[in-house]
This record gives sequence, structure tokens and C-alpha cells, in this order.
Amino acid sequence: MKEGSNTFSNLGFILATAGSAVGLGNVIRFPYIVGDSGGGAFFAIYLMTILFIGASVMLTEMVIGYKGVAGAATSFEKLAIKSNAVWKNIGWVMSASSNIIFSYYVILLAWIMGYIWMSISGSLAHDPEAAKAIFTDIQTNVGQTILLSGLILAAVFLIVARGITNGIEKINLILMPLILFIFTGMLLYALTLDGFSKAFVFMFHIDFSAITTHVVISAVGMSFFTLSLGSAIVLSYSASLPKGSNLVKSIGYVVLLDTSIAIVSGLMIFSFVFTYGGDPSAGFGLVFITLGTVFSNLGVMGHVLGVIFFSALLFAGLTSAVSMIEPMLKSVHIRFNITRYKAALALAIPTAIVSIAIIFSLGGYFGDLNLMDKLDYILSNILLPLGGLGTTVFVGWFMHKSTVLEAVDNKLGIFFELWYVIVKYIAPVLIVIVMLTLLGIL
Ligand code: TRP
Repeated sequence: MKEGSNTFSNLGFILATAGSAVGLGNVIRFPYIVGDSGGGAFFAIYLMTILFIGASVMLTEMVIGYKGVAGAATSFEKLAIKSNAVWKNIGWVMSASSNIIFSYYVILLAWIMGYIWMSISGSLAHDPEAAKAIFTDIQTNVGQTILLSGLILAAVFLIVARGITNGIEKINLILMPLILFIFTGMLLYALTLDGFSKAFVFMFHIDFSAITTHVVISAVGMSFFTLSLGSAIVLSYSASLPKGSNLVKSIGYVVLLDTSIAIVSGLMIFSFVFTYGGDPSAGFGLVFITLGTVFSNLGVMGHVLGVIFFSALLFAGLTSAVSMIEPMLKSVHIRFNITRYKAALALAIPTAIVSIAIIFSLGGYFGDLNLMDKLDYILSNILLPLGGLGTTVFVGWFMHKSTVLEAVDNKLGIFFELWYVIVKYIAPVLIVIVMLTLLGIL
């Protein structure tokens, strides 16, 4: 088998899919949103949406990839009851979406590398104001960001070019256990801090009055984003599954890992925040400014914690970044019958150009235009929901039910019909509602 473009092992597939799911979102967004939106009450709703909607949509992507055994566009084309160019194009758009996410995700990883370095050298700020200034500096430092993100981009493309077994599976087999180990270790340390009980209460107090329609809709959106749905990632990974795989069981493990890591990192982060002071917030402010300041005030221990924490964040981001490259790479490799290395080179160049444009926009070179925010808005609110809509409508209405049954292989038992109804009717309607809400139309 030349250049190792082969199939996943069972464990490899679960870790790689979980690796895609577990990303910066779990660490920087999930904990705060839970705490801020009704704690335990929100969490119960989130669990329902991730089980009924997130997992259901994930299964549609898996069915298409597993049965299509190709890139997204070709899989749609092969499986459609009546072949239709529209589906092929949806496959290309979905694959391109993940590639575009990568073009700005790599910049976030470059900043995290900067924070690892600052933790080592001890140059993290001691107070929030100075920490904010440092964060602004790092965002607008064009030269450093191009250099660091260039390194990460090259490494990620190289890993993915090596194929499933030697590239994608290998890095996930190494990094995923490491991430679990680091976060669990840091949680154990956090358990000894005074702020732990406050962190627990912040995340799990039960406040039903905070539950509004908007909160429920944001839970659907969140379950979608955290499972990396709507951009052909799960679809493309599933195309490299061996025959006879149990799709349903894999989803169970992925959801379990994704949710556990989000909870563990939340409890850990807020234990530090509530012990040493600082505002709980969402987004990069929480880790770069609040947590960065906490670490810088803890002496030697702070250096160690900072390096470990930001490294785990980098690893979590890397396993997601790797997954974002596979959809386009696999499609180009199969469609144009060129090696994975050539496909990687052909894609790395335009991706790097987009990243560089984003970096210059952050450096203030295009006036007020912030390309990162613009792209993130278009992807999160339009392209990803449309991708999710595409796979559910396709599996529900445009694939033979017998093929779908074959892929799921009785693993859902009596719940198959329930899932099928969700996929055919409920999920598409919900996704449209979420999308219109996100766009401010509803
Ligand atoms: N799931 C990742 C996170 O929680 C982010 C991510 C990776 C993603 N690939 C994606 C989100 C594809 C949407 C689509 O950070």
C-alpha cells in the first residue's frame, strides 16, 4: 500500500473523531456558557440536544462516508438515488468549509504557541491590564504570527499527507491520551484549591429561570460546533473505516469523550479563577488574560502549570486542525488521482495565502476589516448549519433506506425508526431555526 493511505483501527477512528471534536471550543467556550446559562439546567438540555440532534447528525455524516468510501463530493454522487450535480457541489462546499476554518484556526494555535513560550520565559503579565496589552500585541504581531502559523500549517499538512495510519491515526493515538492525562492531572490539582467548590457550583447550580428559547437554540448550535459537524470531517474520516464497523458505538465514545473533557477543563479552569481571582468570561479572554495572569502570579508552579496547560490546549487544537485538512485532501487525492503529498502541496499554498491575508487584517493593514471574525461568522452561522442540513436531508430523502439500514447495521435496534424520523423531519427543521436565529432573522 503506497504512502499509507489506508484504514483506521477501531480505537484510532474513535480517538481521531474525538480529537476533532475536542478542540479550543471545549476549553474556552463550553465551561463559561454552561455556567452563564443556567448551570445544571443548561447542562441537562445540552445533553439532550447532543444525544438527539448532535449524535443523530453525526450518524448521517458517518453513513454517507462509510457507504461512499470517497471524498465528500464523490460519496454524495455515488449514493444519491438520482445523481445530481447539486449534491456533488454541496460535498465540495462542505470540504472547503473545514479548510477555511483551518486557515484561521492555525492562527489561534500560533498564539497558543506564543503563550507556551511566555510561560517558559516568565513574561506573562501579572495584572489583567498588562495581560490585555500582551494579548493585543500578540494578535497584531504579523511577523511572529506568520512564522509560527507557517510552522504549524506545514506540520499539519505533512501529518495528513502521510495518510490515515501513519499520519492522522498516529498523532491522535499519541496526543489524545496525553490531553486526557494532562486535564485529569490538572483537575486533581484543582481539587485541592479553595475555589473548587465555587467552580462546581458555577457550572452545575440548577437555575431553570435562565432557560429561554434562545438558550435552547444556542445548545443546539453548540452541540453542532463541538462535534465538528457540517463540514465533511466526520464524513471523510468514516470513509476510511474498515467494513463491519459499529458506527453507533463509536459515536457513543466520541460524545462521551468530548463532553467529559469539556467538563473537566471547565472545573479545572474555574477552580483557578475562583481561587486566585479574575472574571469568569468566555473566549480567549478566559484563558489568555484571566488564566495567564493567574499563572504568572504563582511563581515557579505557575510556569509549570502554564506550560502544561497551554501545551494541552495546543494539542487539543492540533488534533482538530488535522481533521480540518482531510476532507479537501482526500477529495483532491481521489478525484484527480494524485498522491496525498501532491494534494497536500496543492492545498497548502492557497490555504497559506488565506491565512496570511487574515494575519494582515488582524495587524490592521486593511483598515477595520477583521477577516477572522468575518470568516468565523460566515462559517458558524451559515456554512456549517447548511452542511448539517445537507447531510440530514440527503440521508433522509435522497438515499435508499436500505443502504442506510445496511450502514447502521441494526446497531440502533428499535431506535432506528426514531432516528430516521429525527433525520428526515426534526433535525432539518431545527437546523433551519437555529440558523435563522443565529443570523438574527428569527
Ligand atoms: N470541534 C472543535 C472545537 O470544539 C472545533 C472544530 C473542529 C470544528 N472542526 C470543526 C467546528 C468543524 C466546526 C466544524 O473546538
